[in-house]
Amino acid sequence: MESINWSDLSFGYMKTDYNVRCYYRDGKWGELEVSSSEIINIHMAATCLHYGQESFEGLKAFKGKDGKIRVFRMDENAKRMQSSSRGIKMAELPVEKFEEAIRKVVKLNERFVPPYESGAALYIRPLMIGLGAQVGVKPAPEYMFMVFVTPVGPYFKGGFKPSKVCIMRDYDRAAPHGTGTIKVGGNYAASLVAGEKAKELGYAAVLYLDPKEKKYLDECGPANFFGIRGNSYITPQSNSILPSITNKSLQQLAEDMGLKVERRPVPFDEIATFEEAAECGTAAVIAPISQIDDIDMNKSYIISKDGKPGPVCEKLYNKLRGIQYGDEPDTYNWVTTIE
Ligand code: PLP
Ligand code: COI
Repeated sequence: MESINWSDLSFGYMKTDYNVRCYYRDGKWGELEVSSSEIINIHMAATCLHYGQESFEGLKAFKGKDGKIRVFRMDENAKRMQSSSRGIKMAELPVEKFEEAIRKVVKLNERFVPPYESGAALYIRPLMIGLGAQVGVKPAPEYMFMVFVTPVGPYFKGGFKPSKVCIMRDYDRAAPHGTGTIKVGGNYAASLVAGEKAKELGYAAVLYLDPKEKKYLDECGPANFFGIRGNSYITPQSNSILPSITNKSLQQLAEDMGLKVERRPVPFDEIATFEEAAECGTAAVIAPISQIDDIDMNKSYIISKDGKPGPVCEKLYNKLRGIQYGDEPDTYNWVTTIE
């Protein structure tokens, strides 16, 4: 434990003390169970292994200057997990049960919440899988919900330092009326080939276009996208992207700062007009974008010439982190303190 270098954490897995689990059997959810094992024992014919009945969430807990632990907008993650369940015919977990599980797993692993000064956080990973032996393609009879935690640093190397992303027109992460709006494992499997290719070419992420017409911006592999032009915060509206809780929060904060929020289809060539651009999400927080390369079109859009985050991104980043760490007033009741 003494050996954790909190300021040097990457976005990776580290064993913590406990996880919590809950089973859905005979049409109802059972009680939360606490486990210290990292292993789950499941049937080889479980639907999660064959037909992709799996969804997950991602949220964070932060330790404040006052020593208190705060979790950001967990009711939103609970509701999104319900929406994922509806999208792939899994059992819906009540919001209260989800929140109880988060409180419990954070409290039990309190010693892994990084100290305030480190700027790191405790990443919370809830997931749900279909269980029970089944060979035909149909929903599972039973489900398991579990939550583990792990201390993390920045998702992208360099954290708040701008990085390059690319457009790859031969790949989609989701279909026009598919599962892009829910958080299911299959979407991430579908993003791996393009994602690895982008990494090999030196990009932090792929910026996907809408899968139907390739005319509009969608989102990045693990995060939403926004651009800043003049006094506007511009972010794509699309039925193949995940509704990001970070993006929703930033839209509110942007409005409070007097920016105009435009949530609408964003033609991809509009990026040429952006003064700032960034990825946003729980893991990414705000990851500024310095350059967007449209690889197949052999076109580069330079967003940041000096390699520094723009002033609006910086202001939004500080405000969001301030609320999460308890340095700024929590006007909208986004934060739950873990007692
Ligand atoms: N888009 C995708 C595809 C994601 O995986 C995530 C991460 O959860 C996000 C966007 C950002 O969502 P949130 O801000 O709720 O973490
Ligand atoms: C998150 O931001 O929490 C995510 O789930 C993104 C990624 C790690 C899949």
